[in-house]
Amino acid sequence: MQVEDIRPNGWACTYLVNNGENAVLIDPVWDHIDHYETVLEQRSLTLIACMATHTHADHITACFSLSKKHNIPYIMWKDTPSLGVTLYVDESTELNVGGMDFLFHHVPGHTQDSMIIETENHIFTGDFFFNGEGGVGRDDLPSGRLEEHWSSLNVFTRFSDGVLVCSGHEPPGTELQTLGWNRLHNPILSMKSLEQFTAWQMDSVEKLGSVSKIKVALPANIFAEIPDEIPWL
Ligand SMILES: [Fe+2]
Repeated sequence: MQVEDIRPNGWACTYLVNNGENAVLIDPVWDHIDHYETVLEQRSLTLIACMATHTHADHITACFSLSKKHNIPYIMWKDTPSLGVTLYVDESTELNVGGMDFLFHHVPGHTQDSMIIETENHIFTGDFFFNGEGGVGRDDLPSGRLEEHWSSLNVFTRFSDGVLVCSGHEPPGTELQTLGWNRLHNPILSMKSLEQFTAWQMDSVEKLGSVSKIKVALPANIFAEIPDEIPWL
């Protein structure tokens, strides 16, 4: 099984998981649908499912569009507010699609519907967790809860040092790192208290400022509808 970040540009990572025949897209972005279709065609892969790690606020997901077009499942955490989802998963779900196995771990905090998707030795962490200095995603957006994010970090006791962390945002060209590497280099994993975590979050939100696309992207993702006008396209 192969895992590759196939985003054509930008900071939002989209992962192509495939076994040489079938493919799953994790966190595809609507703006780049044509690019994904080209990649799939060039590699003679059949898209069999789309998954979103959470309801995104910074881009319109391609999941509901790809799900309809290819007649394939759109998979999200069971309590997501997002419409258009065709398969809801929880921690008891053992999913096999196209010969690839997936497990799901609920990690509320950045959003209530955040989940880690696990397959073989990869974990797809969305905005729950980034590599190294990236730390974690912000908790000040709709359904974000700082205390829950802090307690969700306990999920990492389930995973060994060797798993590769595939996060929702990384600087372009970043190489995948392991959880073991992150245990040494991600500041969040050496924090001892909620107070420290809260201070880091406050600082991070101040640096990031407002989310430019949220007022278009979030309703689009919740209602599974592409708006008539997308200001950034
Ligand atoms: Fe997010």
